Amino acid sequence: FVLVLCLSSAEDFDWTKNDHGSFYYGTFPAGFSWGAGSSAYQTEGAWDKDGKGLSIWDVFSHKKGKIQQNDTGDSSCEGYHKIKDDVGLMKELKLNHYRFSISWPRLIPTGIKSDHINEKGIQYYNELIDHLLENKITPIVTLYHWDLPQFLQERYGGWQNISMVNHFNEFANLCFERFGNRIKYWMTFNNPWSVAVEGYETGEHAPGLRLRGTGAYKAAHHLIKAHAKVWHTYDTQWRAKQKGLVGISLSGHWGEPVDISNQKDIEAAERYVQFYLGWFATPIFHGDYPQEKSYIKGTCDFLGVGHFTTRYITQKNHPSARSSSSYFTDRDLAELVDPRWPDPGSEWLYSVPWGFRRLLNFVKSQYGNPMIYVTENGVSEKILCTELCDDWRIQYFKDYTNEMLKAIKDGVNVKGYTAWSLLDKFEWDEGYSERFGLYYVDFRNKNKPRYPKASVQFYKRIISSNGFPN
Ligand code: NOJ
Repeated sequence: FVLVLCLSSAEDFDWTKNDHGSFYYGTFPAGFSWGAGSSAYQTEGAWDKDGKGLSIWDVFSHKKGKIQQNDTGDSSCEGYHKIKDDVGLMKELKLNHYRFSISWPRLIPTGIKSDHINEKGIQYYNELIDHLLENKITPIVTLYHWDLPQFLQERYGGWQNISMVNHFNEFANLCFERFGNRIKYWMTFNNPWSVAVEGYETGEHAPGLRLRGTGAYKAAHHLIKAHAKVWHTYDTQWRAKQKGLVGISLSGHWGEPVDISNQKDIEAAERYVQFYLGWFATPIFHGDYPQEKSYIKGTCDFLGVGHFTTRYITQKNHPSARSSSSYFTDRDLAELVDPRWPDPGSEWLYSVPWGFRRLLNFVKSQYGNPMIYVTENGVSEKILCTELCDDWRIQYFKDYTNEMLKAIKDGVNVKGYTAWSLLDKFEWDEGYSERFGLYYVDFRNKNKPRYPKASVQFYKRIISSNGFPN
């Protein structure tokens, strides 16, 4: 095993080389928050330690053939045992915030609060939070990054069942009670689109169901209701005392019409974005939702935006459509990639920085210019790459953060940016074959040592100069 060290430094990087439109020199608003992210199942490991219950991802990843190379998150980065090391890396980067998620079954093994609370799990998050705060790093916490307690899946069918709304609310309430004195930024869900579609429609993610027809819609409906309920719980019971904010993290690719003079292409691209981010954002911001209108409308103090890539969109069966959308194939649209876009790090992740600016402007104009935290943005390496010299990641971060700066100049209210991710980690159905980290993790070594990639120096430089001063 050889790690290829990087001899060039971020200092040598040519700022002026930019294939994506003109570069904007300038700095971010004072107080702009720079961070990095992770999620519980992807990094913690310790899947069966200290009284943790099983999650749907523990069970799913243990089934043969579901994950590349049959990888599991059993030990992953062993983040559960490495609080001090990892906060040390964040300090090294001079991060302002760290985004992580709380594992529901680590706190409540069956998912049902009245059954049993696992104090050891509480203790772990207490230590993490306290250690972050001692080092002046603001924790931004996601309550659900996909790891539903397995018991709730088996007993009730998971997000197919309306009872999840109350169980999730109880779990959230426990988190507000135990951690809310120190956590001021909460997000209910991470990317509910994936939970609904990949969990209950395509089956690529846990619980791996392929409920054709209404499965994904039903799950999404319950996720939206659960989000609203948790927001109301915070608003009525905790906000006055704890003075925090509750949002949600939504993901979305940008969809650009292939032919901007063709109304059908414009409509197809609009549907593409609406079916992704808009599915959840529309009820939450506009309350445009039968019956529960007023209960759901306005239940977002800030919006988390996760964004990675862009597609050109055209009507279905367009002769040049290379691949049609794999989800909701009945939708009358097709996705295309521009052959001139540079080779992606992974199969799906083309670097198209200008799409980020457009998506951010879309959020501004559609949802009344909400406060935004970018909760995920980053790029992965090609399979099995062991290099620390991640020039393409430097280029990606440089271009995407620059487009974000342009969006801020456009008037979009972006308050913070979270590089995805701090560490290489378990990448869901891709296992360990896709590496997103600023830090390389050697998964073959039991101790899971971390090594900085070149992008660490580069990101550090953006953070210390708060952007791109001329
Ligand atoms: C979005 C998910 O929230 C995150 O967990 C994952 O690592 C990234 N996409 C990259 O695929």
